[in-house]
Amino acid sequence: MDKLSITGGRALSGRLRVSGAKNSALPILAGTLLTDEPVIIANAPHLHDVTTMIELLGTLGADVVIDEKLNVEVCAAQLVSHTAPYELVKTMRASFLVLGPLVAKFGEAQVSLPGGCAIGSRPVDQHIKGLQVLGADVLVEDGYVKASAPDGLVGGDVYMDLVTVGGTENLMMAASLAKGTTRLQNCAREPEVVDLGNFLNTLGAKVSGHGTSTIEIEGVERLHGGQHRIMADRVEAGTYLIAAAATRGSVKLVDVEPDTLGAVLEKLQQAGADVQTGDDWISLDMHGQRPRAVDVETSPYPGFPTDMQAQFMAMNTIAEGTASIRENIFENRFMHVQEMNRLGADIELHGHSMAVVHGVEELHAAPVMATDLRASSSLVIAALVADGNTVIDRIYHIDRGYETIEEKLQQLGGAVARIS
Ligand code: UD1
Repeated sequence: MDKLSITGGRALSGRLRVSGAKNSALPILAGTLLTDEPVIIANAPHLHDVTTMIELLGTLGADVVIDEKLNVEVCAAQLVSHTAPYELVKTMRASFLVLGPLVAKFGEAQVSLPGGCAIGSRPVDQHIKGLQVLGADVLVEDGYVKASAPDGLVGGDVYMDLVTVGGTENLMMAASLAKGTTRLQNCAREPEVVDLGNFLNTLGAKVSGHGTSTIEIEGVERLHGGQHRIMADRVEAGTYLIAAAATRGSVKLVDVEPDTLGAVLEKLQQAGADVQTGDDWISLDMHGQRPRAVDVETSPYPGFPTDMQAQFMAMNTIAEGTASIRENIFENRFMHVQEMNRLGADIELHGHSMAVVHGVEELHAAPVMATDLRASSSLVIAALVADGNTVIDRIYHIDRGYETIEEKLQQLGGAVARIS
């Protein structure tokens, strides 16, 4: 099993291109099921999760080709199955996003329940409730969600009890082919939801209000083919910025969308970073200074993202002062704390959702283990700061969401190698 070997103590510096967004690519690839015509997706990142989604589309019978420019071309004209099997859904929860498109287009779908997940129970009740409002019969049986709407879905008013990114996306896709108009309320406003809405409109859907808490979708009879470029990955960008801040470095990221990183850039400035932005670039310079501790509380967009909580905690471990970190989105997203304490951090946990980080002068290398995707990148940041050589085990978690992380860190001067 691959591991990362990191020798800490070097300030990251240099220029880096940010990849396409995983969390945008996954729903958009699922959305290609809504049309019989070919769809071309550009800027999809090369990640395990994207491969899993492509494999799922292939299992359903879609034709998927990756061209010489690394565009992903999908044609879902002749599906052979409407079932997303347990083996694929269990490895990636986002597989559940094929439910809405399948039931809208084919009148039936069986998708395995995602089941337990390392970062909490993560139910799908809002997805199911929404599809029922749109007229689907939904049965949860034998570990599968079985939805049917033989005469097609019908638009309706859906109020989501909580803000869910995947729920909003599944229902947007389903409503695109429903008869009549759907109004989704209490929607997620994440940039990836906006990217999906723009993608659907490229195929001829009539989605409006994406990026606000109320999205209206006027159903159309069919969608056509088209071409879409995936937005930049704001979590990847944020992770490298935080890594640069923690190591007292100076980086410039290009092909990035600064507007999608508002809360994160503000927190980095509070930590003492000199942050500059342009249309598609962000630069960060610590001028060699140690970061200051900053409190973080996660909330849905435009609040501080849960996907960057662990990385900020890593920076706080060596910051000047004490910071509190409150996790409000997931119930069990502090698994990195124990591992960071093995590196010499001083973090106290107060229940499942609150941690207090007392900044220490330095961390020291130790063997650690990656537990989930974002927790893994936080261990990479801690290892980049720690004195000595840290080996991080189980980095398959990192490969789910960070394209060639060791190469990108090497490009910034990090002493990082993949070993087996
Ligand atoms: C997406 C992102 C993930 C990010 C998360 C929150 C993708 C592929 N993944 O995950 O990286 O951490 O948003 O920003 O885009 N919930 C329910 N019922 C539901 C649906 C969700 O109770 O029907 C709860 C979840 O358990 C969780 C919270 O709502 O506590 C937010 O989940 P959600 O926004 O749906 O996350 P995902 O779409 O799975």
